[in-house]
Amino acid sequence: MIAEESMSEIGIYEAMSTTRAVRRLREDPIPAAVLNRVLEAANWGPTGGNAQPWRVIVVKDAATKAALQALYIGPWEAYAAGHRALIGGLEAEARQVQERMIAAADHLAHHLHRAPVILVFCFNPALMAITDAKLGRPSVVGGASVYPSVQNALLACRAEGLGCTLTTLLCAREPEVKELLAIPADWYTAAYVPIGYPVGRGHGPLSRRPVAKMAYLDRWGRSSAEY
Ligand SMILES: Cc1cc2nc3c(=O)[nH]c(=O)nc-3n(C[C@H](O)[C@H](O)[C@H](O)COP(=O)(O)O)c2cc1C
Repeated sequence: MIAEESMSEIGIYEAMSTTRAVRRLREDPIPAAVLNRVLEAANWGPTGGNAQPWRVIVVKDAATKAALQALYIGPWEAYAAGHRALIGGLEAEARQVQERMIAAADHLAHHLHRAPVILVFCFNPALMAITDAKLGRPSVVGGASVYPSVQNALLACRAEGLGCTLTTLLCAREPEVKELLAIPADWYTAAYVPIGYPVGRGHGPLSRRPVAKMAYLDRWGRSSAEY
């Protein structure tokens, strides 16, 4: 049995630079003390006005997880078909990377219910000051009072030796999920995080564009060797 002391004292930069999607999970249960620390970390996330307009449902019940998996598979297959078509034109090496990701995501889609825990993060927009709600483009500010908590949970999983993935495909099946989990009418879903001990190595190096392509100095598009 994995003990409570599995929490590791890794540095924050090491945690951030190795927390990646881990989609092949063992069925072993997660000790309550470990799960409590993950939830505590989520609760440290900042929210607008400290309103904490999110809640998380810790789904452990087998039948409920099976129902979530049954709902997940349709959106996944639609997404995977589109993604496979998109990567067809990539050169061989890049295509192989994408194919590995699709294979892992396909495994998760077929085994979602086998994860010992699925965290379902919910939010209530009425409790948020959504400052970009009237700009005529998709609003993202409300999410900023939920996803920092989700990321904290992912990082805590990393520290605990747990694998996990932030998923959102089930948001498309929100009406059915709300009924299944008795989520009140004014609450909605933002993220679904299956958690478990990894089958393989789990966390590891990330693949990201270089900072110079992401960060600009003073003006849009102006990259720099130093900031
Ligand atoms: C907003 C968001 C939604 C995502 N939705 C899903 C999902 O529904 N299913 C899934 O398998 N992975 C999902 N992911 C995981 C990403 O595919 C993954 O983080 C990305 O490919 C980068 O890989 P890495 O985390 O392993 O570095 C999502 C990630 C984010 C941030």
